Amino acid sequence: MNDKTIVLAYSGGLDTSVLLKRFILEGYDVIALTADLGESDAIAGGGAAQALQAVREKALHLGARDAVLVDAKQRFVEDFAMPALHANALYEGVYPLSAALSRPLIAQLLVETAHKYGAGAVAHGCTGKGNDQVRIELGVRAIDPNLQCRAPLREQPLSRPDAIAFAREHGVPIAHTAEKPYSIDANLWGRSIEAGVLEDPWNAPPEDAYAWTASPQARPAQPESIVIDFSAGVPSWNGVSGWQLVAALNAVCGKHGVGRIDLVEDRVVGLKSREVYECPASVALIAAHKALERVTLTRDELRFKAQCDDRYAQLVYDGLWMSPLRTALDAFNASMAARVSGQVRLQLHQGSVVITGVKSPLGLYSEALATYGNGDAFDHHAAGGFIALQSLPLETLAHAAQHPVHA
Ligand code: ARG
Repeated sequence: MNDKTIVLAYSGGLDTSVLLKRFILEGYDVIALTADLGESDAIAGGGAAQALQAVREKALHLGARDAVLVDAKQRFVEDFAMPALHANALYEGVYPLSAALSRPLIAQLLVETAHKYGAGAVAHGCTGKGNDQVRIELGVRAIDPNLQCRAPLREQPLSRPDAIAFAREHGVPIAHTAEKPYSIDANLWGRSIEAGVLEDPWNAPPEDAYAWTASPQARPAQPESIVIDFSAGVPSWNGVSGWQLVAALNAVCGKHGVGRIDLVEDRVVGLKSREVYECPASVALIAAHKALERVTLTRDELRFKAQCDDRYAQLVYDGLWMSPLRTALDAFNASMAARVSGQVRLQLHQGSVVITGVKSPLGLYSEALATYGNGDAFDHHAAGGFIALQSLPLETLAHAAQHPVHA
């Protein structure tokens, strides 16, 4: 293990470029690691490959010993997004955890790259105020506690003017774009937008905060219906599954403005923050998956699973992806996912996704039992006996209150 080799999670932006250069000046051999989690493909667009190659070349140009670009789209969707889908994972009931699910994968990639290059340390550009530092560092420690994990922007916060001054002095290219009004993080499972004018929760999110979801004026006037197939919990649409399914759903649901979320959420480090998200595919898939579970799982499973699902979302949010409780909950979910097969029809219209049909070969819904029409198979007399026994404790209580026994 080489103490002077460090793997840096590298986005190509100003902050991580400055960090890369600073580590080199400190005498480190830097390996820049960039993960493709489908940010640019999320909307089934193009140009992602070239943009990421440019990030890699920038790192090499800045003096990195090597720059590693990992296409992690499939791994992200299969190993992180799908288990989260089976848990219907929504933090505080609404946020599909897009950023939170990506950090343990980034931690895995940092550790794998460190092992490959014999590096003794890894580093990231998260600040000391957010959730992402917690998620990456808990992930790294859980996999290899011998690796040092550096967070230079936590150790010494870097203002934008200082970053620009350092960049000018050391030949770090600065993109000549107007100052970014928001802090953005994106992958196939969703896009998060924070800071700037959004810091005041009374400010409505400006339309320019959104990139994947159409504005109310630009949405199609007519509703559109799509049918998602699930086979043992695995979704597909028109035969497309995996990350390509998520990309395709982001496009079709985003066109109708589905998946906008505006949330004042509780961060791991104790403060509340206002976050805006657009998560077209994940919002639609979770709604569809929940609807199919309602038809295929028993009442007791559904009631108990709802509590587990909420706990699952907390674990993911809090950076505890690597915890054995999460693995155990995955096993619990898998035991039911085997029965979650069928089709769900979704209607997309003007920002909303509405379930308009569910069917399953393994469904527990029985029209013969439920019908108020002809062919009713339900035993109405049995309900009388059920009520007599179910009400027994309550009746006993009421009798006792009416006729107290004075000892
Ligand atoms: N609040 C969200 C979360 O904690 C989004 C974080 C986005 N990260 C970022 N570096 N902008 O999961």
